[in-house]
Amino acid sequence: MTDMVSTGPNGAGSAASAGGSLPEETMRELREITARYPQARSALLPMLHLVQSVEGRVTSRGIEACADILGISAAEVAGVATFYTMYKRRPVGDYHVGVCTNTLCAVMGGDAIFERLKDHLDVGNDETTEDGKVTLEHVECNAACDYAPVVMVNWEFMDNMTPESATQLVDDLREGKEVHSTRGPRICTWREAERVLAGFPDDRADEGPAAGPASLVGLQVARENGWTAPESGRRSVSGRARGTAEAAAEAADTRRAEAETKLDRSPADVEGGKGSNPEADGKGTSE
Ligand code: FES
Repeated sequence: MTDMVSTGPNGAGSAASAGGSLPEETMRELREITARYPQARSALLPMLHLVQSVEGRVTSRGIEACADILGISAAEVAGVATFYTMYKRRPVGDYHVGVCTNTLCAVMGGDAIFERLKDHLDVGNDETTEDGKVTLEHVECNAACDYAPVVMVNWEFMDNMTPESATQLVDDLREGKEVHSTRGPRICTWREAERVLAGFPDDRADEGPAAGPASLVGLQVARENGWTAPESGRRSVSGRARGTAEAAAEAADTRRAEAETKLDRSPADVEGGKGSNPEADGKGTSE
C-alpha cells in the first residue's frame, strides 16, 4: 500500500491541500448547495461530499471553505467530517471497496472475503493499493443482509459475493474494465460518486430493478396468507402534518404496487431481467 499523504495537527491532510483555496467553480457549487436548505448549515453534509469529489478527501482548505460559507468554525466542520465514516481524511483510490464484516455477512463469508482481498491487494484496512486504484475498508451493515455477503464499490452493491468473485472484481476494476453493480448501474469512480452524493445527479439513479426476489419474500408470504397492513390512521392527523403523512403513505402505496407488479411477472422476467446476478442463482437484485 501507499501512505499517500501526511496529516496535519487536526488530522486533515496537508500535502495536497497546502496553500490556495478551492477552485471558484467549486466555491460556486458549494454556495449553490446551501441554497437548497432553509438553514444554510443543513447543507454541510453534501458540501463535504462535494469537497471530496474535487479533492479526493476532506482537506483543510475544504473545511475552511465550508466554514467560511456557512459562518461556522472550522472546528465545527472538522467535528462533522471526523464523525461520519463516509468522510475520508486520507486520499481514496478510484474505487472504494467496502467489505461488510458485520455479523450476518461475516458468518456468510464476509470475513473470508476481507482476508482474501487484503492478501490479494497487499493492503490493510483503510489502505490504498500502490497504483492508487483501490482502497479497501471493512464496513458495517449495509441493510442488504438478504444478499449477504455484500461488498460495496463506491457505495454500489455487489451482492452474494465470494472470495473468488471479489478477487475478480478488484482485478477488473484495476484493469479498467467496465464493471456493473449486481443491481445494474455501471460503477463510476469514487469522485464521481461523491459528486452524486453532493446532490449533482448523474442520471443513473433509476438504472437496475427496484426490488429483487430475496427482498420480496415477506410480501410474497403475506399475499399467500391474505395478510394486510393495518390502517395507517393518517386521517387522525391534521393540517400540514396530514399532508406530509398522506404524501408519504401515497409514496409507500406506489412502491408497494410496483413491487406487487414485479411479483406478478413470470420468474424469468424477474430473475433474468436487467441487473440480475448470474453468479447468485439469479438472486442478485434488491430494493
Ligand atoms: S450484515 Fe452485511 S449487509 Fe447486513
